Amino acid sequence: SLACDIYAAGGTPCVAAHSTTRALYAAYNGPLYQVRRSSDNTTRDIGLLSAGGYANAATQDSFCANTTCLITIIYDQSGRNNRLTQAPPGGFSGPAPGGYDNLAVATAAPTMINGHKAYGVYVAPGTGYRNNSTNGVAKGDQPEGMYAVFDGTHYNGGCCFDYGNAETNSRDNGNGTMEAIYFGNIKVWGYGTGNGPWVMADLENGLFSGVNPGYNANDPTVNHRYLTAIIKGEPNHWAIRAGNAQSGSLSTYYNGPRPNVSGYNPMKKEGAIILGIGGDNSNGSAGTFYEGVMTSGYPSDATENAVQADIVAAGYTTSSGGGGTPGTLTPGSSISLRATTSCCTTRYIRHQNDQVITSVITSSSSSLDKSDASWIVRSGLAGSSCLSFESRNYPGDYLRHQNYQLYRQHNDGSTLFAADATFCPQAGKSGQGTSLASYNFPTRFIRHYNNIVYIASNGGSNSFDSATSWAADVSWSVDQPWA
Ligand code: AHR
Ligand code: AHR
Repeated sequence: SLACDIYAAGGTPCVAAHSTTRALYAAYNGPLYQVRRSSDNTTRDIGLLSAGGYANAATQDSFCANTTCLITIIYDQSGRNNRLTQAPPGGFSGPAPGGYDNLAVATAAPTMINGHKAYGVYVAPGTGYRNNSTNGVAKGDQPEGMYAVFDGTHYNGGCCFDYGNAETNSRDNGNGTMEAIYFGNIKVWGYGTGNGPWVMADLENGLFSGVNPGYNANDPTVNHRYLTAIIKGEPNHWAIRAGNAQSGSLSTYYNGPRPNVSGYNPMKKEGAIILGIGGDNSNGSAGTFYEGVMTSGYPSDATENAVQADIVAAGYTTSSGGGGTPGTLTPGSSISLRATTSCCTTRYIRHQNDQVITSVITSSSSSLDKSDASWIVRSGLAGSSCLSFESRNYPGDYLRHQNYQLYRQHNDGSTLFAADATFCPQAGKSGQGTSLASYNFPTRFIRHYNNIVYIASNGGSNSFDSATSWAADVSWSVDQPWA
């Protein structure tokens, strides 16, 4: 039995069940989410490979080939139609027309789940989903539980990457009008040990890491690549729990009375559902969501422990990193390319002043640096058996070589540009990751040398052709995109 079957057996059934990666009931065989492509503005539901199984990502890949798809609907598997759609303006307006928030790019958070490719919901700042007219979600001081699986390495200090219960008018209606899972490292309200990110409860006008506003010593920094995060609340009682979604059990970071400031007991929950934003539609936050549910009733720890075992059994793994599976090199996917040479494993291929270099990029890098280090995989400009890499923040500009050095340049439509901007992936020359052969100079591969990026041969007259550490320098880890 799957997560929502387990909650039902525990007497606290799901009233909302959202996932872009898998079924949350063994019997579910409906759509998981809907995408819309920019080429003709048509939509397509993405369903399951089988009842109770995993997302049929191939449907998305073929529908979205050579165009951009956005996630327009995240369906509710609970049968209550508590689906999530583009969040409307409220206390704050989003960047999209009419003050709506942006929709997530459907290919931006690729993952593997039990060996199947799937996509999460990649929330860049400005992105948000909401349902202000729900059915069966806790109101007032009614008990509820919720969990979500996030990418624990993707977060920021903006307000507020949340999943859970919020105001039905998208405005700040005062203390106690929300009860949602927060994940990130903002320190304006609560925080815990270390530098963050932390799992906290967004109860409105406060992210709480325990009974105190501000610091609570039992809420640790947690950044598992796949993170299970839990918040639950009932009259004058609530809890924070979390764990590694890939292995092991949950830890309890708080279990006690409502915060020791006024306005949170009793709670005044309103029953809207948010994803990626704050209750008042604050939309400066970032994160990645794979699945999450909300329940009716306060789930027992034992029920949640069984749900955690189901999440672990679902088998989330990254398609990037040491294995360097070229599977994420699918046209339409966004990626970042990380050096694997031991000097440089935190350095990514990025453009800067039109040149292409490697830079250290971390979660605290600026959004400009992150965008500069992110590329959209395209079918090869010179031939679809190979690939081209379009700049994330300069649409129409591609990675190309010229005099054997790499640059970001606008596609001028010429045959030479197409050839210079096309690279053919193969297994990494060092045995790790992926190597990218130049289409028109096939013995030359994308290589970093003194942090500048070239197409280099293994030995040759140019300094950057040096055979020393060539194999490692031409072997790249295909990672999740920074932006
Ligand atoms: O509680 C933190 C945030 O404060 C809420 O998400 C938002 O509604 C308000 O700005
Ligand atoms: O990078 C090698 C060659 O140099 C490119 O094909 C061409 O653009 C330039 O002459």
